[in-house]
Amino acid sequence: RAEAPLKVMISGAPASGKGTQCRMIVEKYGLVHISTGDLLRAEVSSGTKIGKKAKEYMDNGMLVPDQVVTDMVVSRLSQPDVQERGWLLDGYPRSYAQAQSLESMKIRPDIFIVLEVPDDNLIDRCVGRRLDPVTGKIYHVKNFPPENEEISTRLITRSDDTFEKVKSRLETYKQNSEAVLPTYSDLLNQIDGNRPVEVVFQEIESLLQKICTNASEDKLAK
Ligand code: AP5
Repeated sequence: RAEAPLKVMISGAPASGKGTQCRMIVEKYGLVHISTGDLLRAEVSSGTKIGKKAKEYMDNGMLVPDQVVTDMVVSRLSQPDVQERGWLLDGYPRSYAQAQSLESMKIRPDIFIVLEVPDDNLIDRCVGRRLDPVTGKIYHVKNFPPENEEISTRLITRSDDTFEKVKSRLETYKQNSEAVLPTYSDLLNQIDGNRPVEVVFQEIESLLQKICTNASEDKLAK
């Protein structure tokens, strides 16, 4: 285990599997999961001022204005549990301005993971996705059906998971992702996300393990 807590960024197109992998990473490494999509959806469902503003953008598959999202992330990153357990940033930064905001605060990850999945699979994954509002677990009608009837009846569909909205989210991702990568080129790890969930996780795990080992060795050498 690294002496300093791990700091991880995970990126990828809509439905590339970020949320699914984050659940597994959190379980193993105990990092604080900060998902801007989840934070924004919580604001929307509580009907806050931020939520009302964000909903319009989210429903159109567009990025919510940088300042709104950055304020949310920076405030979460400053909490004591994050300092103690480390962080896993999911879906942020998504624009050059967002990346620069973190850079200006000297907030950098140990690794920047990008999940790569072909477009056709992404659309099918989004349209078939279902969420359990009780546990937060992510399902898919075909790939990962719920374990029992009780769970099945309470599953919900995200309002931005329609065919048309997914297409526009994908377009937005393509327009913005390139702008973020140069900031993290030295930490970049592209992973083939078009494989079984466990296989993708194994690769992530081995990358994180390497960081932990290197950190321990550095400490011993001092
Ligand atoms: P956000 O919630 O981040 O949405 P997203 O990026 O479109 O990503 P998703 O949550 O759709 O997918 P995921 O990669 O987590 O996939 P999952 O694991 O669920 O953002 C929503 C909106 O908020 C944005 O459009 C924007 O408006 C706004 N926003 C968020 N961050 C912002 C920011 N920084 N700046 C500005 N605006 C921001 O998996 C998907 C499905 O695939 C599931 O059904 C799952 O079971 C299945 N699946 C997962 N892995 C596999 C696998 N290996 N094989 C087969 N199926 C799989």
